[in-house]
Amino acid sequence: MTKSMMQAAVLTRYGGPGKIEIATIERPKPKANEVLVKVYATPVTAADTMMRRADPAISRLFLGFTRPRNNVMGTGFAGKVVGIGAEVEDFAVGDRVFGESGLGFAANAEYVCVAADGVIDWVPIALSYVDAATLCDGPLTSYHFLKTLANVQAGQSVLVIGASGSLGTAAVQLAHAFGARVTGVCSSRNVELVKSLGASNVIDYTKTDFTQEQETYDLIFDTIGNTSYGKCRHLLTETGIYTTPVLKFSVLLDMLRTRLFSSQRVKFAPAGLLPPEKLRAYLDEITQLITQGSLRMVIDQQYPLEDVVAAHRYVDSGRKRGNVVLVPRAAQGHSRRENKKVSGKKESVQSKTV
Ligand SMILES: NC(=O)c1ccc[n+]([C@@H]2O[C@H](COP(=O)([O-])OP(=O)(O)OC[C@H]3O[C@@H](n4cnc5c(N)ncnc54)[C@H](OP(=O)(O)O)[C@@H]3O)[C@@H](O)[C@H]2O)c1
Repeated sequence: MTKSMMQAAVLTRYGGPGKIEIATIERPKPKANEVLVKVYATPVTAADTMMRRADPAISRLFLGFTRPRNNVMGTGFAGKVVGIGAEVEDFAVGDRVFGESGLGFAANAEYVCVAADGVIDWVPIALSYVDAATLCDGPLTSYHFLKTLANVQAGQSVLVIGASGSLGTAAVQLAHAFGARVTGVCSSRNVELVKSLGASNVIDYTKTDFTQEQETYDLIFDTIGNTSYGKCRHLLTETGIYTTPVLKFSVLLDMLRTRLFSSQRVKFAPAGLLPPEKLRAYLDEITQLITQGSLRMVIDQQYPLEDVVAAHRYVDSGRKRGNVVLVPRAAQGHSRRENKKVSGKKESVQSKTV
């Protein structure tokens, strides 16, 4: 492969994981306001798999109506700046950065170009690239839902449904860090993990139906969109909030209904549509929590970039614990060294060797 080429995960048709191909394509060149990042780690998220399927159908309006407008998959990345455009002042070659490319996609590749004033930040000193690559999924989204939408306060009681997923593992830790009492809902195999993240109470959904319990909550955060306000409203305090990052028509209807007729509230607003400066401010708060030791990333599986189809199949199973990350071949030795250096800070549930 020549220096101007790179490997990337490419999607030309919506559908199952088999639609993804590893292709050799031209390496992007940074525009005047962009940085070129050599990618050391890039996650496969539940949201990525939904975009692969164009699910819900309305997402085709911004993804591309009949086929993906941007062929190279993935939005999250962490890596090293290897080139900068003429107008870039904040970043320099050699900086360790992470972020997300949003609707520009193109992150599941060996190199990605990102606007210097987009969602990009420096990797906290103690964090590996693998951990940093996941910060714009679970932590950023959960921060937005818990802090901005629900304004979680110390002493409040918070129920996190799907507490072992990417958003859930972050939400349990964030709500705990904000001083809330956290109850997590997960399966038997994840009870100890969720407790270790700061949940004072864990409900194993394979044994107990939490909707039949007597406890009430100031906030119910259904990270996987498995329930509804109707099923949970009796578990909310009088002014309690139900929120989920999974958009359905019923959620919009319940938002309107509760606003008109109830002291309770249903809330939704996609984190990805917020302006970059707001998301960067959230990331500052999140990296501070990491530095204080209040937030750590849960990494389930790591795959080489060329195993992107297997990674999507695993995420599609709906059973991942925390995060799944791709590591491009050229970065593999480097990532392993970095992960070893910070292994004390990382929860590695099952790591596929890369
Ligand atoms: N709106 C936004 O801005 C935004 C941003 C990012 C993501 N999202 C969306 O957020 C959703 C969640 O993403 P995610 O990555 O956190 O999900 P995920 O990691 O794929 O969730 C899987 C986890 O949920 C657990 N689980 C499965 N069934 C469960 C149940 N009935 N009760 C409790 N836990 C259960 C699984 O463990 P077990 O199977 O062992 O229980 C697994 O650990 C996705 O739909 C994604 O598209 C929205």
